[in-house]
Amino acid sequence: MDGNGRWATRRGLPRVAGHRAGAEAIRRVVQAGPALDIGTLTLYAFSADNWRRPRGEVAALMRLFRRFLDDETPNLAASGIRISAIGRRDRLPASLAAAIDAAEGRTASGERLHLRVAIDYSAREAIVRAAACCSPGAAPTQADFGRLLAGEGAGEVDLLIRTGGEQRLSDFLLWESAYAELCFIATPWPEFAAADLEAAVAEFRRRERRFGGVTRADTRPSPRRSQRPTHARPTAES
Ligand code: FPP
Repeated sequence: MDGNGRWATRRGLPRVAGHRAGAEAIRRVVQAGPALDIGTLTLYAFSADNWRRPRGEVAALMRLFRRFLDDETPNLAASGIRISAIGRRDRLPASLAAAIDAAEGRTASGERLHLRVAIDYSAREAIVRAAACCSPGAAPTQADFGRLLAGEGAGEVDLLIRTGGEQRLSDFLLWESAYAELCFIATPWPEFAAADLEAAVAEFRRRERRFGGVTRADTRPSPRRSQRPTHARPTAES
């Protein structure tokens, strides 16, 4: 959800106003998710490196996360949306950590969409923590390791969208995005609308995902190849 700060600055507003507008964009996108067949939607709200931001901005973000949970949890529960958080909780304000626990408990039975919010999240740290859970000398398969990482109940990322014009992953779901389709769009997050999500999903559906393999079309001989003279083809007897 990138581009909040620049969106606000361009309007002569404090950066925090961009984050507030970003929270509104979340409401729009979450409601649009189930109709687009999205089962899990993970929002990158605060990276482990975002603690480096000015203290006032960090405090405002923590308050915004808390307010979002307080305001939205009843709506999420009523809409069949389960919310959970990924990332560290021990560095969050205690009231926010408690609000996350409460929201997770209250929406646990939601089946229309799993909304995950990454707060104080670092993909590298998550990988290191999962590795530390493996017993010494164990050689987990990729599937085992993926299950360890997906403690919160989500696995492979199909589509990764970054708004705001930057084209990097910034330590987000690195393992889970091994075969994700990447979609970088210039629209700043506060302007991201349901139609943008719809367009990204449509683009995703047009893409051919080969997962390192080949498609049927790739294995069919091309017309040019079938016109080759037979003597040019090596045979077992030659
Ligand atoms: C990155 O944009 C955005 C963030 C670090 C915060 C994202 C937070 C929200 C959208 C607020 C609401 C979230 C929840 C979960 C209620 P940036 O500020 O780095 O933008 P910039 O690159 O333009 O400065």
